[in-house]
Amino acid sequence: MRFSTNLLTFVLSATALVSAGVIERRGGSVTMLTKASQRHPDGAVYFITNEPQGNMILTASIGSDGNLRLDRAVSAGGRGLHGVTAAGNTGVDGLFSQGAIQVSSKAGVLATVNAGSDTVSLFKIDPRKPTNITPLGDPVSSEGEFPSSVAFNADGSRLCVLNGGAINGVNCYTVDKELGLVQIPNSLRYLGFNQTTPANGPPGSVSQIAFSEDGSKLLASFKGTATAPGYLASWDVQADGSLSAQNGQVALAQGGMIAFSLTPIPQQNAFFVADPGVGFDIVDLSGKKRDASVAITGQMATCWSAYSAKTGNYYAIDVGGNTIREVALDGNLKGSVVASYTLPAGTSPIDSETATIRGKDYLYVLGANATTVEVYSLNGPAKAQRISSVNVSGPAHSAGVPLQGSNLQGMATYVSPW
Ligand SMILES: *[C@@H]1O[C@H](CO)[C@@H](O)[C@H](O)[C@H]1NC(C)=O
Ligand SMILES: *[C@@H]1O[C@H](CO)[C@@H](O)[C@H](O)[C@H]1NC(C)=O
Ligand SMILES: *[C@@H]1O[C@H](CO)[C@@H](O)[C@H](O)[C@H]1NC(C)=O
Repeated sequence: MRFSTNLLTFVLSATALVSAGVIERRGGSVTMLTKASQRHPDGAVYFITNEPQGNMILTASIGSDGNLRLDRAVSAGGRGLHGVTAAGNTGVDGLFSQGAIQVSSKAGVLATVNAGSDTVSLFKIDPRKPTNITPLGDPVSSEGEFPSSVAFNADGSRLCVLNGGAINGVNCYTVDKELGLVQIPNSLRYLGFNQTTPANGPPGSVSQIAFSEDGSKLLASFKGTATAPGYLASWDVQADGSLSAQNGQVALAQGGMIAFSLTPIPQQNAFFVADPGVGFDIVDLSGKKRDASVAITGQMATCWSAYSAKTGNYYAIDVGGNTIREVALDGNLKGSVVASYTLPAGTSPIDSETATIRGKDYLYVLGANATTVEVYSLNGPAKAQRISSVNVSGPAHSAGVPLQGSNLQGMATYVSPW
């Protein structure tokens, strides 16, 4: 590093960043991670530190070739928290979730959970420089404990959060361009799982929240326990955004065990669900009964998934096997693994997301244990190629941004509108 930490670190927000410990309530304080921001980025990626002293959103710009340049850390306005596992509270995937941070490109906004503060924060994305995110309103209560996943509806006019702690369930907001997140009446719904704060898991914990493609249902995946398989809890969404008083349960197909990720299958009203007990499940809400549970030979913990519009395939992330498997679905949603990509030992890949840059798709994989972002160029079906690995801990350390691989979580992308 040729530049001193002082030069790299400057606070742009009006509210002061209180040093050594507490991050100010509203969030938005900026710490630069690079000496020179990319001038005209094609997009950005975002993930969170989920650190207990203060949750930070880490951003990187996407260049024309899909490669990343770390840009800035922005305080999320709350604290992170790590769930409790059988081995203590260590291990990657501290929130046991997918979707801890999400973007609505249509609305130009980003939302993240602060699991240790039981809040949700909303940010506005600068379309000309999407790493430049600014708070939109104050962080709001998640109305539960240990929020772990958020979901925007199709046009980004609403956001819902999934709580996974002792008070667990869902809650929804209107995305107001002036006020930020505004509670939607009759959208706070409890699940009543026997849980703790921080949540115990992965077994018995919730995983991801998502709207059905037509917006008529809100779904939350539940991993199930050693004695009973997981399922999707499902609420009807009314025109005003309120939810049905009771939730239904959408079962996994025979053989399905653990409902983790909820990746929409476009135009099919169905979800690709990574299942660490088996491989993956197809959950069909269309009434066409194409539900399936598909075993992946040799998989260890396939928890996350992403879809590429360009290849038409799904990318299932196996943290235990340190492997990404590419899955193709046929017209009846019958899935099969068409390629497999192994990461360097010790990477522990978790949350992942794609972005279309100049007509080509790239896959951004959070390498939690290695504290990297792994970049894959999706050159066609079954032709993914790892083109770079971005060191996150080095620049973060130099800039004084605390982070640990066991806490890192989430992956969201934004593509600039040109
Ligand atoms: C909830 O879980 C705890 C710990 O696993 C257990 O001791 C307790 O009996 C459970 N309570 C209910 C109502 O099932
Ligand atoms: C995580 O990385 C460390 C090195 O930083 C390595 O010793 C350890 O084995 C890795 N853990 C896993 C689960 O790969
Ligand atoms: C990241 O950079 C730091 C500081 O330069 C270095 O110590 C660390 O080994 C690097 N990590 C990886 C995964 O390359």
